[in-house]
Amino acid sequence: MSRRLFFAIIITVGVAAVVFVTLGRDIMSGNDTQQRSTQGKVNIGGPFQLVDGSGKTVSDMDFRGKYMILYFGYTFCPDVCPTSLGEIAAALDLLTADEIAQVVPVFISIDPERDTPKIVGEYVEHFHERMIGLTGSIDAVKSVAKSYKAYFSKGEVDADGDYPVDHTSYTYVIGPDGQFITAYRHATPAKDMAKSLKDML
Ligand code: NI
Repeated sequence: MSRRLFFAIIITVGVAAVVFVTLGRDIMSGNDTQQRSTQGKVNIGGPFQLVDGSGKTVSDMDFRGKYMILYFGYTFCPDVCPTSLGEIAAALDLLTADEIAQVVPVFISIDPERDTPKIVGEYVEHFHERMIGLTGSIDAVKSVAKSYKAYFSKGEVDADGDYPVDHTSYTYVIGPDGQFITAYRHATPAKDMAKSLKDML
């Protein structure tokens, strides 16, 4: 066998192997998607009992019949939370009066040590008149965050007693039946969020 023929065979076999693997992967991921969609409801979210800005106990059941736009954060957050809540508020302002009547923006504090009901209530008012701020015991907050697969972790306390709280920054949409619909990444522009919401309302 000439050296040229030998390399030609090696290259042909190599290309065939790459094509086979790529196609195989596509077919497998196709099956995977199908399986996921036939599994139905996504296991994100769950029941909670928290406290609103007026000190009233609020549960997930209080939002049935509305689209809940949910964000986890804390009022001392220097930038991420204000940005996200600002975008949510701007998205709501792009909805019609009919559409906005169907949604409730909800902010859940993952820093209940500092975020009392009053502080959270006053904080959300800065962003949108319809926004509801919730907080609760650390256990209650941990439990609801866990059900949404939202992560948070208290950082180091400095000399002034201040500390950051590292946290995920997704905006969740929960349907009127209490089922998770979608989640927007941090920094999703208001107009994209508004378009997505209009499509589901
Ligand atoms: Ni934040």
